[in-house]
Amino acid sequence: MPAPIGVFDSGYGGLTILKELKKQLPTYDYIYLGDNARAPYGTRSFDTVYQYTLEAVNWFFAQGCDLVVLACNTASAKALRNIQQIDLPKLAPGKRVLGVIRPSAEVLGNFSHTQKVGIMGTQGTIQSDSYTIELAKFFPALKVFQQACPMWVPLIENGEYDHPGADYFVQQYLDALFKQSADIDAILLACTHYPLLEAKIRSFLPPGVKLVEQGAIVAESLSKYLVAHPEIDQKCSKNGQLAFFTTDEPLSFEKQASLFFGQKIEAKHTDLA
Ligand code: DGL
Repeated sequence: MPAPIGVFDSGYGGLTILKELKKQLPTYDYIYLGDNARAPYGTRSFDTVYQYTLEAVNWFFAQGCDLVVLACNTASAKALRNIQQIDLPKLAPGKRVLGVIRPSAEVLGNFSHTQKVGIMGTQGTIQSDSYTIELAKFFPALKVFQQACPMWVPLIENGEYDHPGADYFVQQYLDALFKQSADIDAILLACTHYPLLEAKIRSFLPPGVKLVEQGAIVAESLSKYLVAHPEIDQKCSKNGQLAFFTTDEPLSFEKQASLFFGQKIEAKHTDLA
């Protein structure tokens, strides 16, 4: 039976991706799951992020989903490869789990004239080197400079993203990135939370530097994927419906989530175990 597309994040960030999926692929049904009770993932070990993400993927499969998008860079960096190569063949060979790193790496080089790009993400994403590895496949001449921004997710999750206190941490990480190379002319926000800080980041950017967000890129890539894989597309239900779940408390999720998603939502609690 056709089922919704699963969209997963450690917390709220994946809603910035879901917003674009809904815009570009409005007829599909989506189930969103935020593992808010265990967020943030960005500072957790490889094993922990892998275990949590696998639990989430199993939860989506139990809801009947045949296609799951890890709308979280940290989970994509630390868990996706193992899930695709080790778990899926055993658990559910006909189901698919996709991430956000490859679609972003496929196009990022096109935004840069200097062929020097910056990647800003969580500690987990940056330490995994996933972007450097993926970008080398698509843009071998591209020079990649990375900066972990461990304070940005807590600022965003606590609603401090447009307050003056956030300025210090925005400037600090941008300075650290441009210290690595003053010629960087495109920066990827490689964490699905960061679009909430976009206005502030822009206000500190040197002129001419492009800020690249993932939402539209991931949605465009998924749209092409569904055309190229009709066998998966036909397993996706298409009634334009949305459902939201959180592993934490639904009322506070609803309040925060509307900021990330841009409209009011209703959420339910779920346990993953
Ligand atoms: N939204 C997640 C990402 O894209 C990170 C948030 C977290 O640290 O849990 O990496």
